[in-house]
Amino acid sequence: MSTEIASIKITKVEASRIGEVDFDNIPFGKVFSDHMFTMDYSDGEWKNLEITPFKDLTFSPAISSLHYGQSIFEGMKAYRRGENIYTFRAKDNFDRLNKSAERMCMPSIPNKLVMDGLRELLKVDKDWIPDNESNSLYLRPFMFATDEYVGIRPSEKYKFIIFCCPVGSYYTEPLKVKIETHYTRAANGGVGEAKAAGNYASSLYPAKLANEQGYHQLLWTDSKEHKYIEESGTMNVMFVIDNVLITPPLTGTILPGITRKSVLEIAKDWGYKTEERQITVDEVITAAKNNTLQEAFGAGTAATIAQIEVIGHEGTNYDLPAVKDRELSNKLLTFLNRIKRGLEDDKWGWIEKI
Ligand SMILES: Cc1ncc(COP(=O)(O)O)c(C=O)c1O
Repeated sequence: MSTEIASIKITKVEASRIGEVDFDNIPFGKVFSDHMFTMDYSDGEWKNLEITPFKDLTFSPAISSLHYGQSIFEGMKAYRRGENIYTFRAKDNFDRLNKSAERMCMPSIPNKLVMDGLRELLKVDKDWIPDNESNSLYLRPFMFATDEYVGIRPSEKYKFIIFCCPVGSYYTEPLKVKIETHYTRAANGGVGEAKAAGNYASSLYPAKLANEQGYHQLLWTDSKEHKYIEESGTMNVMFVIDNVLITPPLTGTILPGITRKSVLEIAKDWGYKTEERQITVDEVITAAKNNTLQEAFGAGTAATIAQIEVIGHEGTNYDLPAVKDRELSNKLLTFLNRIKRGLEDDKWGWIEKI
């Protein structure tokens, strides 16, 4: 069955796999919806816009993304309430994708093209968007180099894909994080602010060591002195100290998170004092010791707000205040969950109803 809508060729599955999915127990990132959106870049333009069944693809072993890592991605979600489907700040994700693309010498994608593709995909896979507050449809847009060439230069051909995973909670419990004072996620002048695949590969080994020591995640510090806090795993990190919401500034090594900037805007709107400034490991540990550290959490699309209950530093674990007593982050989580499903006044224009 094949139909042409706008300039996107749509081929639907003959039989949906949705009946096989236990939506009450979905493992994060392992279940894929029926369809995906794909397009190709060559001769200076994006072409072959298609929605097809989710399927394996065939490539030459020589494609350059496999060897030299010209590969970038995004992570975003679609939400559903009854017959309404919503995306949250999707344009910001695609703007960030284009910034990552520029840094990695990859082509940009016109916003309209990618938004049209996403909207059509969500319409086709609408039934895969869970309709409750804790679940959603995770969307994975990504682009990779497809030149068959063993030589280091920007590829001339690329593939772009969006596929979808119905997901539940990313973390099932508050996090124990370890302040990393040896390994580095990103250095000044590097690619930390791009969502480049290699950033994640290089974080695996230090994260594995932290897991072996009983921590869920790392708190990354700056590459030069390991003195300043940067991010937590794949989330931006935020602290409430003496009633002020503090998060590290975007200086090039940190991913400019869409949850981060939303949290800052909401907290400001609610009258909280917020600061984007360098925060030292010493300041956090001192605040934890003298009980002025009221809240600590990660902010990111996958988990929205991930509470941090223990911070480990140089062999000592510092217990943070009980999660139930954390006024701001609990309020933020509820508000974000509601606004994303069209249940709050969207005065910022963040929500698009598909
Ligand atoms: C390294 C890193 N930091 C922060 C974030 C949070 O960004 P966002 O809120 O846009 O999901 C992510 C997730 O995309 C990430 O991978």
